[in-house]
Formats: sequence, C-alpha cells, structure tokens
Amino acid sequence: MLSLREPPVLTTARLTLRLAEPGDAEAIARYFVENHEHLASTRPRMDAEFFTAEFWRSQSQASRSEFRGDRSLRLFIWEHANPGRVIGNANFTQFVRGAAQYCVLGYGIAADREGHGLMREGLEAAIGYVFRELNMHRVMANFFPWNRRSGGLLRRLGFVVEGYARDYLYLDGEWQDHVLTSLTNPGWRPGG
Ligand SMILES: CC(C)(COP(=O)(O)OP(=O)(O)OC[C@H]1O[C@@H](n2cnc3c(N)ncnc32)[C@H](O)[C@@H]1OP(=O)(O)O)[C@@H](O)C(=O)NCCC(=O)NCCS
Repeated sequence: MLSLREPPVLTTARLTLRLAEPGDAEAIARYFVENHEHLASTRPRMDAEFFTAEFWRSQSQASRSEFRGDRSLRLFIWEHANPGRVIGNANFTQFVRGAAQYCVLGYGIAADREGHGLMREGLEAAIGYVFRELNMHRVMANFFPWNRRSGGLLRRLGFVVEGYARDYLYLDGEWQDHVLTSLTNPGWRPGG
C-alpha cells in the first residue's frame, strides 16, 4: 500500500523526532560512531560502511520510500538543547497489515543522555503517532533479560510481557534469548 502521507515531525517538550534527511548524514554517522560500544550488544554487527556519512545520505531516501510504502517509520531523535546532535533513534519496522496490524519497535539513546527520561518522552510521542495516525493495533518490543533499562522503559510505557524466547535474535555474534513484550492500541479503528 502506498501512502500519500508526509513523514511526521514529532515535537515534545525536549525533543524532535523525524526521519533522516540528507543533511543529517554527518550527525547520524557521528551518533553511531560515538555510541558504537554502547549500542553494539543490542544490534546485529554492522559493516564499516554503516558508520559513514555516505551510507546515511543514501539511507535518508530509503527510509522515506519505506515510510511511503507503509513498511517502516525510522526516527532519529534530536534534543532542542543541542540541535546539531543526534541523541537517539527509534525504529518501527516489519509493518504487517491485514489481520495483524502490528510492527516491531527498536531503540537506543546516546550513552551520555541515558537516565533523563528522554527515551520515554520520545517513545510516548512516537507510539502515539503510530497508534493514532498509522492506526497500528500492536507494537511489539523485545529485550535481553539482563537489559534492566530497556525492561524498565517498556514497563513504564505500559508494555506487557508476553513470553520468553530462547535463542531469539542473532546479535553481537551470538543467538540471544529475549523477553517478548507488546502494547496494544485501545483506539484502533477497523478500516481506518
Ligand atoms: C534502553 C535505553 C533506551 C533506556 O534509556 P533510559 O534513559 O534509561 O530510559 P528512560 O527515557 O525511560 O529514562 C529513565 C531514567 O531516567 C530517569 N529520569 C530522570 N529524569 C526523568 C524525567 N524527567 N522523566 C522520566 N525519567 C527521568 C529515571 O529515573 C530513569 O533512571 P533510572 O533507571 O536510573 O532510575 C538506553 O539504556 C539505551 O539506549 N541502551 C542501549 C541500547 C538498548 O539497550 N536498546 C534497547 C534494545 S532492547
């Protein structure tokens, strides 16, 4: 399904969340370079190209076309207090429509911006958009059993634990167990 909807620019008290633009490439590459170790255990191993501005220039077009194709919403997070710097990202991917109407959420915030409630603030706005405007019925998010911060964040956002999956994702060079959680949309509209 192709959407004529413009990609969102979401604003909260402290943050802006939006898709990458070509002019963001340097700032995005810097975010991934500076936070390489901090984020490494929670994502697949990335090629060297992933950490370059060239790669992120090409991705800005790709993420726009994925959004228009109703396949993903890949947001980068900017703080009003320091507008030149990307401080995090939140990816809603694997959109499944039909009888399912769900997607998968993944996220990360810069190591030096953890512990200020910023990811929660950003995700509240982003999930609100995904529920109200994209009319998703369920957002699923999974975390490592040891990831206290991620589990706490999801619990505060209202996500409910649905299970425990052994050897669920191949991350950081190993199959890893995950806790499975989800949040459903009380305002979902049939045919909406
Ligand atoms: C998971 C992750 C995003 C959580 O970030 P976070 O900053 O802890 O999450 P929140 O936005 O919910 O912030 C909560 C913290 O801010 C504190 N806080 C400070 N000011 C706050 C405010 N105004 N409002 C709310 N919380 C506030 C809370 O007390 C809490 O800190 P605590 O856990 O030490 O008590 C972050 O740890 C991260 O990026 N980790 C690496 C990548 C990763 O694990 N991704 C998830 C893969 S499943």
